[in-house]
Amino acid sequence: MQDDNILLDVKNLVKYFPVHRGIIFQKHVADVKAVDDISFFIRRGETLGMVGESGCGKTTAARTILQLYRPTSGTVHFDGVDLAQTKGKELRQMRRKMQMIFQDPYGSLNPRMNCGSIVGEPLIVHKITRNRGEYSDQVAELLKTVGLSPYMASRFPHEFSGGQRQRIGVARALAVRPSFIACDEPVSALDVSIQAQLVNLLEELQSQFNLTYLFVAHDLSVVRHISDRIVVMYLGKIAEIADRNELYENPLHPYTKALLSAVPIPDPVVEAQRERIVLTGDVPSPLRPPPGCVFHPRCPIAIDNCSGTHLDGLTNDRGVPELREVSPDHWVSCLRV
Ligand SMILES: Nc1ncnc2c1ncn2[C@@H]1O[C@H](COP(=O)(O)OP(=O)(O)O)[C@@H](O)[C@H]1O
Ligand code: SF4
Ligand SMILES: [Mg+2]
Repeated sequence: MQDDNILLDVKNLVKYFPVHRGIIFQKHVADVKAVDDISFFIRRGETLGMVGESGCGKTTAARTILQLYRPTSGTVHFDGVDLAQTKGKELRQMRRKMQMIFQDPYGSLNPRMNCGSIVGEPLIVHKITRNRGEYSDQVAELLKTVGLSPYMASRFPHEFSGGQRQRIGVARALAVRPSFIACDEPVSALDVSIQAQLVNLLEELQSQFNLTYLFVAHDLSVVRHISDRIVVMYLGKIAEIADRNELYENPLHPYTKALLSAVPIPDPVVEAQRERIVLTGDVPSPLRPPPGCVFHPRCPIAIDNCSGTHLDGLTNDRGVPELREVSPDHWVSCLRV
C-alpha cells in the first residue's frame, strides 16, 4: 500500500456462505452471496458510514474485514498488513487493534457477568494489566470514559438501560486500545432520544483516542452526522461511495436517491415539494442475485443493458457495472451515470 493515510484497504472482498444439502454426503448446492466483490478504503481518523437495507451484507462485510469470518476471496490490508494471510499470534495481535460494537446491546453482553468483569475481561485476556490494583483502576477509568460511574461495576447487564448497555460495549471495545472500531448499527436498537447521546460519545472518543470508524446503519439519517464519507451497499455490492456532503447533495446512483428520498427533511416547504422515489418489491435473495446490475429489477431507470445480457464498456465480463470514480472521491456503479 502506498498511501500512508489509509488505515484500512479492502480490495475485491467476497464472502459467500455455502449451502449444503443431504445428511450423509453434504453436497454443496449453492452460495449465499452476502458480500460480493467490494472495494473501498478508510483513511486514518475518519468515519466511513455504510448504509443499505437489511440483508444487503453490511454485518457480513464488517465481520469479514475484522476476520471474524474468513473471506472467500479478496484482501483486507490493515496498516499495510494483509489480514487474510495472517494467522495465529500475529492475527490475534492485529485483532486487538480492531474492535467491534454490536447492534444488540442485550445479546452481546454476557448476562451472568457483572459490568466490571465484562469491561475488564479483555485486560486479562490480552495481559494488559499486571495486578489487581491496575486492573480495577483501568476498569474504573474505562467506565468513566464512556459516561458510567465506577460504582456500577458490580451491576449486571439487566440492571442497565439500553443506552447504558451500549456504553458497556463501547468500554469493552476500548479496553484493548484499538485504532479501529467497526460500529454495527450501534444505535438502531435504542430510543431516538438516546441515539444522539451515543453518537456524540462515539465522536468524543474518536478525537480523544484517535480512532477510525466504520459506522454501519440501515438508513441515511443516522450516518449523516457522524460520517466523513459514506458507502451505499445493495445486495452484497457497492452502489456508491462519496464524501458525506456530496452524497446528500449530489447522489448519483438510483438506489442512493431512493434511500435519500426516505429521509425526512426538517423544512416542511422543501419536504412537500421534493420528489419521492418509492422502491417496489423487496431486496432479492443473495442466493440468486439478479444478473448484470443487481439493482435492475427495482431500478426506475433501468435499460436493457442493465440486465447483463449486453456487455457494455462499463461492466465486467459478467455484465456487472464496475465501480467507477466519476469525480474525485465519488464512485458509482451504474451504467447510466
Ligand atoms: N452465517 C451466515 N450463514 C448464512 N447466511 C448468512 C449468514 N450471515 C448472514 N447471512 C445472509 O447474508 C445476507 C447478508 O446478511 P447481513 O450481512 O447480516 O446483512 P445486513 O447486516 O446488511 O442486514 C443475508 O441474506 C443473510 O441472511
Ligand atoms: S446500472 Fe441500470 S439498473 Fe443498475 S442502477 Fe444503473 S440504471 Fe439502474
Ligand atoms: Mg446487520
